This record gives sequence, C-alpha cells and structure tokens, in this order.
Amino acid sequence: MSKFRAYAPASIGNVSLGFDLLGAALLPVDDQLLGDWVEVESSTVFDISVDGHFSDRLPPEPDKNIVKHCHDFFQQALVSHGHSELQVKLHLHKALPIGSGLGSSASSIVATFYALNEYADKPFDKDKLLLMMGELEGQISGSIHYDNVAPSYLGGLTLMTGEEQPVALQLPVFDDWYWVVSYSGLSVSTAAARKILPRQYDLGTCLAFGRQLSVFIDALYRNDRQMAAKMMQDVIAEPHRKTLLPGFDEARQFVGTQNGLAFGISGSGPTVFAVTDSLTSAQNIEQWLNRHYVQNADGFSHICKIDTQGTRLINT
Ligand code: HSE
Repeated sequence: MSKFRAYAPASIGNVSLGFDLLGAALLPVDDQLLGDWVEVESSTVFDISVDGHFSDRLPPEPDKNIVKHCHDFFQQALVSHGHSELQVKLHLHKALPIGSGLGSSASSIVATFYALNEYADKPFDKDKLLLMMGELEGQISGSIHYDNVAPSYLGGLTLMTGEEQPVALQLPVFDDWYWVVSYSGLSVSTAAARKILPRQYDLGTCLAFGRQLSVFIDALYRNDRQMAAKMMQDVIAEPHRKTLLPGFDEARQFVGTQNGLAFGISGSGPTVFAVTDSLTSAQNIEQWLNRHYVQNADGFSHICKIDTQGTRLINT
C-alpha cells in the first residue's frame, strides 16, 4: 500500500487539575470524527495540500504549515538513523479550529508523524515518536508539554511522567462519564495564554495542586467517581485565563444547575468542558452552551466519551 491516512482525535489538555501533565482524547457519541487527518502518499514531487472546515485559517505558505515542519523533522530523523528519505506528498484535512484549546496543532502533528511512520514501515517506536511529537508541539506553543499530543496519540486519559524522557501512563476512565466540549468560536493562542500565568505560585496553591492530582489518581483506581469529580478543580490556570473567555462564569453556573460533576477550560481555551454521568444533562448542557457560550458561526459543541484508541489509520 502506498497511501496511509491517519486520524488523530481532539483532546482536553490539563483536564483542570493536571496542568501540562494530564490530557484526555475525545470521541463524539454521535460517531462523528473530531480531529484532523493526514494522508501520506508516494510521489516523486513533494507537495502539501489542505482541505477541511478550518483549512482556510492555515498559513497560505506551505513552508509555514506545521505538517511541513513535521515532515522535515521526520525525514531528518530517518537520515540520522541510517534510513533513506521518503519520497512522498502530504494532505492535511484540517477539521479542528486553530487556537481552540482542543489540541488542534497536536492533532495535526500526531496524525502526520503517525502516517509517516506507518508509511516508512515503523522505523520509530512509540517513545521516540512521542518525543518527536512533543518537540514539534513545543516549537508552536513556546514550551514543550505533552498533555495534548500524548492523549491524541495513545488515546485515553494520559498522565505524563518522566523527567528527561517523556513517559505517558494511561489512567483508568469511567466509561459512563460524558464530556461536553464547547468551542466559543474565538481564538486564543496557547503562547499568549501561557504568558498571562504567574511565574511563581504560593505554597497553598502548590499544596492544593499536589493533593488534588494525587487524590484524583487514587480515586480513579478505587473507582470512586464522586471523589475523582470533586478533585477536578483548576488552581493553576483558570483563575488567570477565565478573563479571556467571555461567558465562562455563567457557563459554570449553568453546569452546576444540571448536576454537572466538573467544569473547566479545555487546554488553553477558549473551549470549555463539562463532565456529567447523565445523557440528559449532557444534552441540556450542550444546548445551553450552543445558545449562550458559542459566540459566532465557527463555534460548536459536542457530547463526547473518552477516545481510548488514539490515533489510527482510517480508510483512504
Ligand atoms: N497545558 C497546556 C496549557 C495545554 O494549558 O498551556 C495547551 O493546550
């Protein structure tokens, strides 16, 4: 086969309580795909083409396309590991909005590396690919963090461990939880949303962060939904970033009236997410967010479960 098409799901970075460490891959319950895909095809002439709902927001110059950066990085890695360069062209289907907090750049990066690695007959293992994905994500957002690339690549709810070498652990998930995501239609750059965060946090905040993350993980392993949900508070980013998100407090308040288990900012925003164990609540929340949180025609909401598969080949 000389053509590989890889799909990489959207993701929620941070999941409120795990800044830069925790991420969740998303699978809409209506069986739609919510993520970008990239196709690699043999060609003697290199080319990048794009389509998809948000492709007109990409830089028009192919050299500025992240897929091109991933391609160049992958080819260099091949050569430095003693392999020959690939003769390919690439196509990006850009389904995720840029600057949305849904792991849009991570989705393109993961799909590109995965498709190239499959095309090249898997010269790189999972850890090496994850490292390459993180490097490219870091070039875009201004600092290396894996909370979008890891879940998009591996699926599930992933926790990053490892200091020098990234190691992604897949945590247990409650499969009766619905994750409603709502993108307002505005754009927030990750680099800008990181810049507004303090460089230092006080002791109380550090203790709350450590307690929440450790109790949350323990609760997942004990199957204690109530305790896990209670720990999903964002003490690091939300107090500073919510000023960038019109309607955030009202949305949180509405989710509270629907017995929502948790509510927070997805990655660096402006997408927000709500967790509930009732499909009726999820539907009410989705409708309300569509009416009140979404600001323009680019916005949308989806009811999702956790995508436990991560990136995968799909039919060409
Ligand atoms: N952890 C990153 C941040 C995710 O919050 O800046 C970016 O999507």
